[in-house]
Amino acid sequence: MEILIRETPEAGCRLAAKIIAKVVHEKPAAVLGLATGRTPLQLYRELIRLHREEGLSFKDVTTFNLDEYVGLPPTHDQSYRFFMQENLFRHIDIDPARTHVPNGTAADLQSECRAYEERIASAGGIDLQLLGLGRNGHIGFNEPTGSLRSRTWIKILSEQTLRDNSAVFGSFDTMPHHAITMGVGTILEARHLLLLAFGPAKVRAAMEMIEGPLAAICPASALQLHPRATIVLDEAAAAGLQSAEHYRWIDRHKLDWQRYE
Ligand code: GLP
Repeated sequence: MEILIRETPEAGCRLAAKIIAKVVHEKPAAVLGLATGRTPLQLYRELIRLHREEGLSFKDVTTFNLDEYVGLPPTHDQSYRFFMQENLFRHIDIDPARTHVPNGTAADLQSECRAYEERIASAGGIDLQLLGLGRNGHIGFNEPTGSLRSRTWIKILSEQTLRDNSAVFGSFDTMPHHAITMGVGTILEARHLLLLAFGPAKVRAAMEMIEGPLAAICPASALQLHPRATIVLDEAAAAGLQSAEHYRWIDRHKLDWQRYE
């Protein structure tokens, strides 16, 4: 794992935007896996700025989002499709037909899961998958103890996740309790993983992901298996890491071609 610690979430997001911009510059028809949540908001703002001010074009890019709540239509202001439209897609030159978010209102959710996998495969697989980190170690909506080889599936959200995400829904009871999410196995097939985690609420999950054992109780620990996983933390999220000095040492001694900034 490549662990990059930056002072603030803003600095972490600027770095993440550079990593994504590099992928798109090198491969204009790149396939990007995208994530929602509070964590990537600043990153999306930076990508929009790069598009407006520095000519970064997404016109040939294809995207696949990690997950969607079951039962929320794209018009619902808490659906992940709505989030992506508002926070990224409508501000850049991406072709809407190339943006994919799982359909949480499909009549047959199992066949939507299979179809989503097929859509990813027929786009040639994902070049770079962006990830956030749940407080309980989840990635996408793969909650603790879910299979580390899972494919796109329907997950029951844990109490912790419902509590963390309920503020925007008004209440715990009225929010969806299920989601459709890429599986951990699906995520691990992306050619490059880029996970962002900021703030003190993520200290424990970051420790377990990076320094804990590979274990389904922390789905993000599956990143230890990936040949190219980049993890960007701010100082607050990195506060519990035992080997933080080692990660900083590695970061300082990179060869030029290994650097993003
Ligand atoms: C949500 C999403 C994840 C996200 C995580 C963290 O439930 N399904 O994709 O990474 O939880 O969210 P946040 O960035 O708001 O802390």
